[in-house]
Amino acid sequence: MDRFEPNLRIPGPTGLPPTVREAGARQMINHRGPEFAAMLARILDGVKPFFGTTSDVAMITTAGTGGLEAAVVNTLSPGDQVLGVSIGSFGDRFAKIARTYGAEVTKIEVEWGQAADPAVVREELQRSPGTRAVLLTHNETSTGVMNPIPELAAVIREVAPGALILVDSVSGLGAVPFEMDAWGVDVVVTGSQKAWMAAPGLAMIAASDRAWTAMETATMPRVYLDLRAHRESHAAGQTPFTPAIAVVYQGRRRDPADGRRGCGSHLRPPRGVRRGITGRAHSPRLRPLRRPTPCLQDGHCRGRPRRSRLEDLQRRAQATWPGARRWPRQADRQDLPARPPRLGHPRGDPTVR
Ligand SMILES: Cc1ncc(COP(=O)(O)O)c(C=O)c1O
Repeated sequence: MDRFEPNLRIPGPTGLPPTVREAGARQMINHRGPEFAAMLARILDGVKPFFGTTSDVAMITTAGTGGLEAAVVNTLSPGDQVLGVSIGSFGDRFAKIARTYGAEVTKIEVEWGQAADPAVVREELQRSPGTRAVLLTHNETSTGVMNPIPELAAVIREVAPGALILVDSVSGLGAVPFEMDAWGVDVVVTGSQKAWMAAPGLAMIAASDRAWTAMETATMPRVYLDLRAHRESHAAGQTPFTPAIAVVYQGRRRDPADGRRGCGSHLRPPRGVRRGITGRAHSPRLRPLRRPTPCLQDGHCRGRPRRSRLEDLQRRAQATWPGARRWPRQADRQDLPARPPRLGHPRGDPTVR
């Protein structure tokens, strides 16, 4: 890496290896031609093991949030009862999308820094027997906490067998194993700029057979995000609208389907990244507040470091610390600085060819 380049220590986008950047710099091709069709097929088939599904996956040119919106509008109807389990700002966002499109959203608001408790989800579902969908965040990037999706899904399946389980795994998938089919999850969303180590611009969304069926009767409005149109077009080797071709080149280059390294070998972050986070970059005053999630090499500041120290870190490592607001719901935590400064790096390196 060029020493003058940004040394990103933010939870996405990830810095790109030279081969991936070069792949993105290629001349455009006809996205309705055979070369594009081959790339698309390879990506869509290649990501399935990472979702842990044999169902169809759709690839949409959009940020991760567009993928979350697609999950909601394709499977739900205005007036549907939805349980939003929020453990941080991305859980709040998922619930807000559902509410904006007319769902009746009840929220479980977990204290930031904690994972969702399956027992609490069970109680809430028992109180609301008509729940149509539950929204979960896999890896909550804003707090660096990962939810126990298999346990949560098992409780939902038991108490509300008819409810759809929609999971935001924008920053989780590709970094840690996921077994969508085995866990009974219905929709999973991920984004190209996280563990996939490509530029931002693509969301990949897997839907179970149950979710694909639900799309036939769901009535929330959708045009660009209509997953049925994407699936139909993918079957013909295309996307319904002009895709982010440069990111597709990069995705193809980082295609995790390469069997030589095997599923799981991508789960460890490159050694340099690991050392950078856990070693030199953490001064005694800047150390992990808790055990970091396996998806993010992430450290929060425990004390109140000098501003000059933070500025130095930002300059050297492009660390982020999100301004002067306290974490919502933690206003009483006097031991935390305004909001904990954070050094982070999405883990994962899906396949190197
Ligand atoms: C867990 C999670 N969900 C959703 C998003 C939103 O993704 P985007 O910024 O690409 O819309 C992010 C982005 O950091 C995220 O980490």
